[in-house]
Amino acid sequence: MKLSSISNAASCFLLVIVQISLAVALTSPQDISALKAFKASIKPSSIQPWSCLASWDFTATDPCALPRRTHFTCGLLCSSDSTRVTQLTLDPAGYSGQLTPLISQLTQLTILDLSDNYFFGPIPASISSLSNLQMLTLRSNSFSSSVPDSLTQLKNLDSLDLSYNSLSGSLPKNTFLMSSLRRLDLSYNKLTGSLPKLPPNLSELALKNNVLSGVITKNSFDGLTQLEVIELSENSFTGTLEAWFFLLPALQQVNLSNNTLTRVGISKPVDGRSDLVAVDLGFNKIQGYLPVNFADYPMLSSLSMRYNRLRGGIPLEFSHKKSLKRLFLDGNFLIGKAPIGFFTGDVPVAGSLGDNCLQGCPVSSQLCSPSQKSYSVCKQAYGRRPRP
Ligand SMILES: *[C@@H]1O[C@H](CO)[C@@H](O)[C@H](O)[C@H]1NC(C)=O
Ligand SMILES: *[C@@H]1O[C@H](CO)[C@@H](O)[C@H](O)[C@H]1NC(C)=O
Ligand SMILES: *[C@@H]1O[C@H](CO)[C@@H](O)[C@H](O)[C@H]1NC(C)=O
Repeated sequence: MKLSSISNAASCFLLVIVQISLAVALTSPQDISALKAFKASIKPSSIQPWSCLASWDFTATDPCALPRRTHFTCGLLCSSDSTRVTQLTLDPAGYSGQLTPLISQLTQLTILDLSDNYFFGPIPASISSLSNLQMLTLRSNSFSSSVPDSLTQLKNLDSLDLSYNSLSGSLPKNTFLMSSLRRLDLSYNKLTGSLPKLPPNLSELALKNNVLSGVITKNSFDGLTQLEVIELSENSFTGTLEAWFFLLPALQQVNLSNNTLTRVGISKPVDGRSDLVAVDLGFNKIQGYLPVNFADYPMLSSLSMRYNRLRGGIPLEFSHKKSLKRLFLDGNFLIGKAPIGFFTGDVPVAGSLGDNCLQGCPVSSQLCSPSQKSYSVCKQAYGRRPRP
């Protein structure tokens, strides 16, 4: 009896050992070699002892083995059967190195996030083999060279964030092929060239602070019925922004400040319906009158056309517009009387009408600061006495 219970205990113990050793060999060899190559391409001196990567010890245990107590404690997640790596989400621990092309072997990866580190060199073209990838985030690193054309083969990609790197060259011509892409952020890089045709399911487009140029054409935005946010400020876009732009059916926020646009065409929203809330067209070279049709966008609450070359008066419609909370028109050549409604209305508008050629802007009002341009500057701009 005693003996058998000992042998029972022994076989239990053996079973446990067998289970542990089974657990040790779970992760597929292709994933293990990819993870090893991934770690090997990062400078050992940049791997802090408390970081996720420091816990990746391939001699001690299998990467997908559970529970994770001392090794592979963070940075990756595996499939429920512990055979494949599905997420590689590195901690922002200051890792410096290149991204190995062998990353392409992690074919079950759905999330690759290396943000806020010091990865440098090119984004490997082989990344296009990660056909299950839904989220690619390389934000805030030092990746250089161009955005690989092969990225456009990632048909399941939902979110692509390569912002705050040193990427150059133009956007892939076939960008529109990323049919699942809803969020694209390539802001704060050195991208050049014009806008290509964009992915049809995009809801957020951010290309702020690059060197993109050319005219913003309808062809780029054709069929983008879900686009809500357009962030293109601090680029070199030129020419006319045509009326179709503000009629994009889901549009809510637009920032095109700090470009070199020269004209804007704006028509009234179709059937009076639009979700447009905020428009920033400041710091361009926009000529002509302040577009009165903006007043017909029912939700519009913030409008900036500051520091452009607008002339003529401020339409009264703006001072009657209940939804308007912020209005920046400073730094233009607007003339006539500042609409009294701005100063008497129950809903105060914040912003500025300063640095124009307006008359009767009450100095006591915050809206009227800074002060208007001098008479001689205004007279010179109009080639005559400035009168509406
Ligand atoms: C595009 O968006 C629509 C509506 O949200 C969705 O039904 C469709 O599946 C999406 N297409 C792709 C390829 O994701
Ligand atoms: C638009 O972008 C500019 C420059 O990037 C920024 O300064 C400004 O605050 C943005 N406008 C709005 C309304 O957020
Ligand atoms: C936008 O342009 C103006 C005028 O050139 C400049 O003063 C301002 O700093 C720029 N804003 C940004 C966010 O670059």
